[in-house]
Amino acid sequence: MNERVTGVRGVNLAVRDLEQSVRFYTQAWGLKVADRHNGVVYLRANGPEHHVLSLREAPKSQFLGVNLAAPNQAVVDALHARAQGFGADVVNAPHALEGGAGGGYGFSFRTPDGIMQSVSCDVRGHADCVEDKKKPYKFSHAVIRAANYEMLGSFFMDLLGMKFSDETDGITFLRCSPDHHSVALAKVDGPGLHHMAFELPNLDGLLYAAGHMRDNGYNLEHGPGRHSGPGANVYTFFIDPNGFAVEYTTEMEQVDDATYPKRSAQWWRENRPRQGHCAWGIFDGPSPLLRKARNGHLIEELNERALAATA
Ligand SMILES: [Fe+2]
Repeated sequence: MNERVTGVRGVNLAVRDLEQSVRFYTQAWGLKVADRHNGVVYLRANGPEHHVLSLREAPKSQFLGVNLAAPNQAVVDALHARAQGFGADVVNAPHALEGGAGGGYGFSFRTPDGIMQSVSCDVRGHADCVEDKKKPYKFSHAVIRAANYEMLGSFFMDLLGMKFSDETDGITFLRCSPDHHSVALAKVDGPGLHHMAFELPNLDGLLYAAGHMRDNGYNLEHGPGRHSGPGANVYTFFIDPNGFAVEYTTEMEQVDDATYPKRSAQWWRENRPRQGHCAWGIFDGPSPLLRKARNGHLIEELNERALAATA
């Protein structure tokens, strides 16, 4: 399949208090405001991608979808045609995108469970990339809660051309670049965001950033640890003001399409180098609050609490 997406640019969220979320993601998490346009705040990391996260205010916080990169307009057009043939809910045809989001050319569609996917090319990038190991350089991966993960997996692989990397009992890992996974499907109730990860340049920078989060009053909910299995990346987890689980990650395994073996959940059950899901880990396991954030219950609870407060 020649026409395929080649990266995940980032994700879009609705948040209840826009300025509170902007403060969290800039002052604590290490992103910067790239643009504000029509009530949407576009946040960038230190790399060239125009934005890795967009935030818009709404009565309820909610996961609004994934932004995917295509190499050129011909591929965008081909993926649009494939989406139509696939029976996807195509929201719009390929068109020039508004400048506040970095412009470019793209289209959007929804998966059957309602998750918006935007595919774009020619998005304006940043020339002033900063080599600061202590702050995120790029978006790493989005893990999506999908009760019908087999159907959703078909959308990402058969429609968008992603490749299957690995599967465990809980998660299917998909890639669209040398990164072991850019999208993963968590086999729990959805649709929604299980967690999103931002990549730090190295382990020292990840630990520095995690310490900075704690200095700013945010609990370390999981990690630091290194996965003993798919991706082999290092991670730490925090929770944002809306109840979304956010991960700092680094040293994601780089894979070669020609040689990387597809490995099943059964293979990982029998061959995981060390049980407990980590090669090393300095923690007692994910906190109860992080479990609640990753399964979406914390977001719902905070939304209901805010609604009750305004009633
Ligand atoms: Fe992750």
